[in-house]
Amino acid sequence: MNALDAIRQDSDTDNISGDATGIGHVIEPGVLDTTHGPILYLEDITVSFDGFKALNALTLTIDRGELHCIIGPNGAGKTTMMDVITGKTRPDSGTAFFGQTIDLTRLNEPQIAQAGIGRKFQKPTVFEELTVYENLALAMKTDKSIWASLFFRLNGEQRARIDEILALIRLADEARRQAGMLAHGQKQWLEIGMLLMQEPQLLLLDEPAAGMTDEETARSGELFLSLAGRYTLIVVEHDMEFIRQISRRVTVLHEGSVLASGTLDQVQADERVIEVYLGR
Ligand SMILES: Nc1ncnc2c1ncn2[C@@H]1O[C@H](COP(=O)(O)OP(=O)(O)OP(=O)(O)O)[C@@H](O)[C@H]1O
Ligand SMILES: [Mg+2]
Repeated sequence: MNALDAIRQDSDTDNISGDATGIGHVIEPGVLDTTHGPILYLEDITVSFDGFKALNALTLTIDRGELHCIIGPNGAGKTTMMDVITGKTRPDSGTAFFGQTIDLTRLNEPQIAQAGIGRKFQKPTVFEELTVYENLALAMKTDKSIWASLFFRLNGEQRARIDEILALIRLADEARRQAGMLAHGQKQWLEIGMLLMQEPQLLLLDEPAAGMTDEETARSGELFLSLAGRYTLIVVEHDMEFIRQISRRVTVLHEGSVLASGTLDQVQADERVIEVYLGR
């Protein structure tokens, strides 16, 4: 029996409590210390592409448990900011800390993911031929290289975790369905569920409502609201109705820097924001 068959068997059988060889060996999440400050701290971050400053002395802090929305015109640097946080792009200068002690500019992408920062890209990367349940099982925080070669079973705690996430992303009824058969919105939620399986502290979501129906968008909003507090979320979006549904604190980026921040009402009333983004 290969690893996938083992998951299949486990997902069909509730009374097996086999050991979790290979799954238990996770690197402990870094000692994320947020007792005296924010969960994310960016200061004076500059990123240049051929002399053009995609980020220009960007300074931003995010508190633990926040649901923080980032808006701004095309090219403002929103995605580049996420690239810096996740280690995809190295800043030319500036400081980026995760908690008090983790210097993001010294870590590579896998190390940053391991430290507890999860990122959702626009295009879902679920395994279409596997079931929803199997996708979640595969996403579980573990050393995939060792995992892949080992025979293992999900233990009770791991199955409980999958069930919890299935309920959270409202896919419990679809658990046995092939991921490829899901609607666009459901695939997006599955991918968020896969991120959550890795127990991130901070989740970055770049235009999560893109391509969704109005109903799917509203459901996503409910999901994000239910995640806030327990997780910290940074959401980049252009859909203002969606932002209104979920927004707590909103930051407006423009030309690589913070133009304004506050509640949505505050930033929407800001003349400079109206000028560069919202239009008159
Ligand atoms: N790898 C790259 N090489 C050169 N220029 C880049 C690169 N990545 C981003 N840029 C430029 O940096 C600027 C900021 O891009 P970014 O993708 O961060 O904007 P954004 O705020 O996410 O915009 P959008 O709302 O359209 O997604 C843009 O002018 C973009 O063309
Ligand atoms: Mg972008």
